[in-house]
Amino acid sequence: MLITGAGRGLGRELARQYAEDGWRVVACGRACPAHDFEGRVEFQLLDTADPASIHDLAVRLAGRPLDVLVNNAAIRSEASGLLGFDPDEFLRVVRTNTLGPLLLARALRQNLVAGGMRIIANIGSRAGSMAEGLLDDYDDDYAYRCSKAALNMAGAQLAQDLRVDGITVLSLHPGWVKTDMGGVEADLAAEDSARGLRTIINSATIEDTGSFRTFDGKHIGW
Ligand SMILES: NC(=O)c1ccc[n+]([C@@H]2O[C@H](COP(=O)([O-])OP(=O)(O)OC[C@H]3O[C@@H](n4cnc5c(N)ncnc54)[C@H](OP(=O)(O)O)[C@@H]3O)[C@@H](O)[C@H]2O)c1
Repeated sequence: MLITGAGRGLGRELARQYAEDGWRVVACGRACPAHDFEGRVEFQLLDTADPASIHDLAVRLAGRPLDVLVNNAAIRSEASGLLGFDPDEFLRVVRTNTLGPLLLARALRQNLVAGGMRIIANIGSRAGSMAEGLLDDYDDDYAYRCSKAALNMAGAQLAQDLRVDGITVLSLHPGWVKTDMGGVEADLAAEDSARGLRTIINSATIEDTGSFRTFDGKHIGW
């Protein structure tokens, strides 16, 4: 299994739990993490905002079967609000959060076909839901919201296109999680979010492809 953005936050916790469970984990990040992972964890350099970095990773992993791809890496924008956002910053967020996962899915498709489980889990956000994202969550980060809404559509289209290969594509909201991104006020520990996400990922079948769910299994309106 391969996890992006595994150096800290939710990605790190997912890598830790999967390794503890005996999985062989490819933990990807922009820089070698300061901490050591325990278990069968291999670190690979990957910048999801850089198509060349994605290509290089795919070349290094060529021929290696992959059960699960977890597109977890993401950023928020520095600027906020309609007047505050900067066009270049907006595009940097979309490159990282949307284009990166899509290119990675394309680049690692054959690895997933060769794997047994054939699952792509895109870690999205309820903030990107048209139906629910604005209900009780004030967030004026246009770039982040748009990047996650677009990731949802990328996932839905991938679900349709990769069905022929038996690849299941999931959009998953991890909850409001205590990480650098979620902040200390968040109501969920990374351990609990990761445990819930793993339950969904590990039990997913092709019948689940194209679904959008929270870490505890509830369906979210697109
Ligand atoms: N925390 C929440 O409450 C919450 C809520 C909804 C959705 N999510 C989603 O959950 C996922 C994990 O979030 P988190 O809370 O763990 O965030 P986080 O604590 O900010 O960690 C983000 C991770 O993504 C990596 N990353 C950022 N840009 C990257 C790039 N260009 N290439 C490779 N890696 C990159 C970071 O690596 P560096 O160390 O190199 O920066 C870091 O490992 C994200 O998709 C996020 O949108 C989180």
